[in-house]
Order: sequence, then structure tokens, then C-alpha cells
Amino acid sequence: MGDIVYSLKNVVKHRIIENAGFRLCIPSIEIQAGENIALVGHSGCGKSTLMDMLALILRPDVTDQFEISPVGDKSHKVDKLWQRNKLDSLAQVRRHHIGYVLQSGGLLPYLTVRENIELPRKLRKLADDDSIISISRVLGIHRQLDKLPGLLSAGERQRAAFARALSHRPSILLADEPTAALDPISARKIMAVVMELIKGLKITLITASHDWAHVYRMELRTLDQKAGPVEGGRIYQSTFRD
Ligand SMILES: Nc1ncnc2c1ncn2[C@@H]1O[C@H](COP(=O)(O)OP(=O)(O)OP(=O)(O)O)[C@@H](O)[C@H]1O
Ligand SMILES: [Mg+2]
Repeated sequence: MGDIVYSLKNVVKHRIIENAGFRLCIPSIEIQAGENIALVGHSGCGKSTLMDMLALILRPDVTDQFEISPVGDKSHKVDKLWQRNKLDSLAQVRRHHIGYVLQSGGLLPYLTVRENIELPRKLRKLADDDSIISISRVLGIHRQLDKLPGLLSAGERQRAAFARALSHRPSILLADEPTAALDPISARKIMAVVMELIKGLKITLITASHDWAHVYRMELRTLDQKAGPVEGGRIYQSTFRD
């Protein structure tokens, strides 16, 4: 058995307004270093909610255990950090170890592509080296570095978002429907490049996707997901488990 990067037990997040809404339940999830995981499920089942919690951006409401143990670092009790409002500590873990490709892309529109990709390195105070250009070359966006993101095609923007998520050499890559805006062939090509890029680096990849066929073809481990109405139909409850 390898090193466990994420260990979650009885984690719950409510999105409830006026007694009705959505509840995400995670009885138990363990994710090992270097695993490639897919969160698959229909729209609204809580994939982005779970991603945001794994990215340490969204605070869970209930936790028996929520630990992150990134490769090369100690174990962090995320539940305790949230309880003590240690936002700086959470940000530091995130900055060092996590790259996140948001569902919306998330590039800052007023920074060039190069500045966007550099940003996580600057936040981590990493020295300038040739990593920006080399990762951009691998992802095929090296000719776009001086443009603003608005001038890129949708596929180039997604590839730039991956470059930004990987530029500070995180050991955990979270990608929330990273290719949803693209045609299936471009989407699959980008994911193939990213999979090749992270192969052998022991990066843990967690991706949310609607594209079941692609997920199975890439042989990602999927988490079991079930959803349905509970409490007289007031709450729509979705459960993700190993
Ligand atoms: N900030 C929020 N406030 C209140 N409810 C929210 C919020 N964000 C999401 N929700 C609700 O939580 C549920 C899960 O949303 P989430 O975005 O996690 O789903 P998803 O599986 O990522 O969907 P999609 O495939 O469309 O991206 C939905 O019912 C959504 O309306
Ligand atoms: Mg989503």
C-alpha cells in the first residue's frame, strides 16, 4: 500500500437555503499518492463542491477526519485548521502542493499568459528558471505567452490553465471539467498530453468529468457516486465513496 494523500471520513457539506437544497456526504475516501481519480456524475451532483474541499478552498460543515499528507511533507489535519480558522496555513498547503484547474478556466484576464503561469511560482517564491517555457512547449502554448488570455482559443486557454496549475510543481493536480468547453477530440488530446506530462512524477490527479467514456478509456479510478432526494424530498443528497 502506498502513501495516502487524502483521508476523509464522514465529511458533509450543506448547500441549504430555507430548509431545502443540496447535501454532499463522503462516508470515506482514501486517495493514494500517484493515483489518477475521476469524479463522474451528472450536473449538480457535487463534483465541484468536493473539488473545492479537496483544494482547501471550501470549508466542510462536518468532519470526522480530513487529512492531507502531500508527498514530501507532513500530514495536515485540514478539519482542525478550518476549525481554528487557520486560513494562512491552509493557503500555504495549497500554494505548495496543489494545482487547481477550475471549471471556469480561471486565468486572470488582465495578466498575460506568461504572468498567469508564473503566478503560482511567485506565490511560492520559487526562482525564475526555464520551467515556464518548457511546460508551455509541452502543452503547445509557447507562442501565446505574451498574449492576454482573452486572445486565446478555448483549447489554448485550457492548456494555459494546466500550465499554470503545474508551474509550481505541485504533487496534487485537481482539474474540474477542464475540457468541458472543447470538442471531444481536442478535449481528449489535451488530457492525453497532461497525463503524459504527469506520468512518472508521482502526481496525484483528481479530475471531474462528464465524459464517462473517456474516463474509462484513460483507466482512471472512479469514486462511487449516488444521489437522490431525502427528508421528504426537501434535500437532494449526493454521496461519494471509495
Ligand atoms: N455557492 C453555492 N451556494 C448554494 N448552492 C450551491 C453553491 N454552489 C453549488 N451549489 C449547489 O450545490 C449543488 C452541487 O453543485 P456542484 O457545482 O458541486 O455540482 P457539479 O457536480 O460540479 O455540477 P456540474 O457538473 O454542473 O459542474 C447544486 O445543487 C448547486 O446548485
Ligand atoms: Mg462542477
